[in-house]
Amino acid sequence: MTTGEVQALLDGREEALADLRDDMTANFARGPGAILLRGLDPAVLGEACFASVLARIGGWLGTPAIQSPQGERVARVERRADDRTARGTFSNAELRPHTDLHDILALGCFRPAASGGESVLVSARDLHRAIGHDDPSLPADLVKPYAWGGNPALRSADRPRPCLPILFPPDAAHGPQVAYNGYFLRRGADQADGIFARFDAIAQRLADKTLFRLMPGDMLFWHNWSWLHGRMPFADRDDRPRLLFRLWIRSVIAPRADPALVELGQRMDEDHRITSQWEKHGHE
Ligand SMILES: [Fe+2]
Repeated sequence: MTTGEVQALLDGREEALADLRDDMTANFARGPGAILLRGLDPAVLGEACFASVLARIGGWLGTPAIQSPQGERVARVERRADDRTARGTFSNAELRPHTDLHDILALGCFRPAASGGESVLVSARDLHRAIGHDDPSLPADLVKPYAWGGNPALRSADRPRPCLPILFPPDAAHGPQVAYNGYFLRRGADQADGIFARFDAIAQRLADKTLFRLMPGDMLFWHNWSWLHGRMPFADRDDRPRLLFRLWIRSVIAPRADPALVELGQRMDEDHRITSQWEKHGHE
């Protein structure tokens, strides 16, 4: 970002940000659907201001969804040694390439790890090509629908979960897209472990070539269905733990390969609302 854009963001002068906003929406509507904004200094902004700038930019692209029963729309991603229910968000473990459940994702790097924690983005385009090359019989299995399971730490309505293909081949309206999360798919009804493992192996091989490091102040936005994301394990220094802020954004800017993809995010939102109600009013 230019110094002028950074200042306009801090001053809340939206009219001075029209070019940046147009660049971002065009990137998602017609471009690769991934963009890194650099120029903010988190040490000057502080956590609350940095998080609110991230949310404001995310609002240009769509509607930030809630990410917890507490209703947070900007979530903290940090290691919490005492939290046993959370998966990647509060651990320092490696996260293998996957998609989440909403259309656009964002991570703002407030403070990187002391070591490790490199990020990964693997494009669905590269993945589609590599799968066809490395394991030619796999695409036929990946275009079949698989049932997604839920997060056992959340409460949930008792009805079937979405069933979706993992791979969506390109067509006239969009490039290749992908919906893959080993955690949720292995908790689904289909348990196709052999297929998931073959997919994991190819995605991991590509991920190893695309590691990059988010610097303090960096804000990364990407189209969830066009890119798998992940990260390497990391180690913190006690007094300066790694801290990212995250958005899950519902957005129609980039075409969805299948309208049913929206159901994954809707179901996650519903589980958070139901869990929140249950925690407030108790189980009857
Ligand atoms: Fe994720």
